[in-house]
Amino acid sequence: FVKTLGNKGRKRLSPPGPWSFPIIGNLFQLGDHPYLTFMEMRKKYGDVFMLRLGMVPVLVVNGMEMVKQVLLKDTEHFAGRPDMHSFSFLAEGKSLSFSVNYGESWKLHKKIASNALRTFSKAEAKSSTCSCLLEEHVTEEVSELVKVFTESTSKNGSFDPRNAITCAVANVVCALCFGKRYDHSDKEFLRIIKTNDDLLKASSAANPVDFIPCFRYLPLRIINAPREFYRALNKFIALHVQDHITTYDKDHIRDITDALLNTCHNKYASTKTATLNDDEIISTVSDLFGAGFETVSTCLYWSFLYLIYYPEIQAKIQEEIDANIGLKSPRFEDRKLLPYTEAFINEIFRHASFLPFTIPHCTTADTTLNGYFIPRKTCTFINMYQVNHDETIWDNPSLFRPERFLNENGELNKSLVEKVLIFGMGIRKCLGEDVARNEIFIFITTVLQQLSLRTCPRAELDLTPTYGLTMKPKPYQLQAELRSSGSSSV
Ligand code: HEM
Repeated sequence: FVKTLGNKGRKRLSPPGPWSFPIIGNLFQLGDHPYLTFMEMRKKYGDVFMLRLGMVPVLVVNGMEMVKQVLLKDTEHFAGRPDMHSFSFLAEGKSLSFSVNYGESWKLHKKIASNALRTFSKAEAKSSTCSCLLEEHVTEEVSELVKVFTESTSKNGSFDPRNAITCAVANVVCALCFGKRYDHSDKEFLRIIKTNDDLLKASSAANPVDFIPCFRYLPLRIINAPREFYRALNKFIALHVQDHITTYDKDHIRDITDALLNTCHNKYASTKTATLNDDEIISTVSDLFGAGFETVSTCLYWSFLYLIYYPEIQAKIQEEIDANIGLKSPRFEDRKLLPYTEAFINEIFRHASFLPFTIPHCTTADTTLNGYFIPRKTCTFINMYQVNHDETIWDNPSLFRPERFLNENGELNKSLVEKVLIFGMGIRKCLGEDVARNEIFIFITTVLQQLSLRTCPRAELDLTPTYGLTMKPKPYQLQAELRSSGSSSV
């Protein structure tokens, strides 16, 4: 414990934490899975501790109570983003999600983005069989995905579904943002959206480049990966947005980009209220696009792995689909009819915890936490993985057991679902939660309604993740077979 004197001469208590080396701090103690290392450190130092990454002090927050304190009760004081090298490539510092500029104009920016996403994803569908445009886009993409899965199996015997999933999910966001979809074999599109492990590692919490400045000048792949990826992604998005700016018609709003242009050019044009300029519109679309495809496709890549790892769980979901939806196309409103499937999705969120940390936060003013003094501009890591594996909340947390979310009548236990921490909470909470939950539900139910998935004979499946901003499973292969009727054939 370090005691320093505050302005008024009172003693201030700093959070406890491990002893650190000069220059590198505790960076090289973090190992391959920092969230697990932090769980170990928590045993010694408690829910709130401080370490040094390079020369930078970093606050680590674990435990549901302390996480709620930071994200909900003291949300304003912890709502900033740290000034990190890897974030600087994102939308050239104007990003809604990563920019260090927190304040009133950021709040307006988030409100505009949330409204545009909500309004447009609920917009009326072109087809009368879908309840909204988002449902229509997802339904189209999952049909294509089922086709790709069956064709890949008949052509190659088995296949790694990662690229097909990424393409399908990116197409949903693309359709929402730009009213356009791409073919799964479109090389240009694939080049833009294909993330790799170097990129995800480089964008993760605790990337050495963010904490030891001289590392930035080393010619390493992990250092340059984000710069190249985001440059290509930003260029792709800027071209689409520029095209929308020239063809924009206020009486015919085609997609989210138009909705943002409409909000900014019309609603606020006559008032003195701050609004977004064209560069900020590009960065907002870029934020929605980036956040909307990488997270959802990672979730689906994990889901299909768990489904072939636990064939009995796959069979149960198929039974539930057959009994409650039959052969009709799954729709968002069917979520309430399929509690076991919903429980499976929540158990994926909890067990895989594929976003182990929120995006790093940063204090916007001096504050206190659990009796400790936390100065302004303190970089803060929120360990969501720990909350999702906390033995005081979850019975036998390492077991994958969707049933834990069901009560004795087989209904979803909503108060337990709320304890899964994957979308964050408070001011910085993910604005795509509803979109993501609906989208994931349709992808999983439609695939399992039509196909049985299985692992290849003698293949060894591994549920250990590769650490990154989002954590992916190791590459795996699966086989997809058309189900002959509505009954399970796993
Ligand atoms: C932020 C999770 C899908 C848009 C976040 C954060 C998390 C998260 C953990 C950071 C919260 C924090 O820093 O405290 C997820 C997960 C998803 C998902 C697990 C899917 C399973 C989406 C989708 C969209 C989206 C589909 C939009 C189409 C955003 C945006 C932010 C964000 C714009 C930045 C919010 C801010 O900085 O205030 N998400 N997300 N996300 N998410 Fe998501």
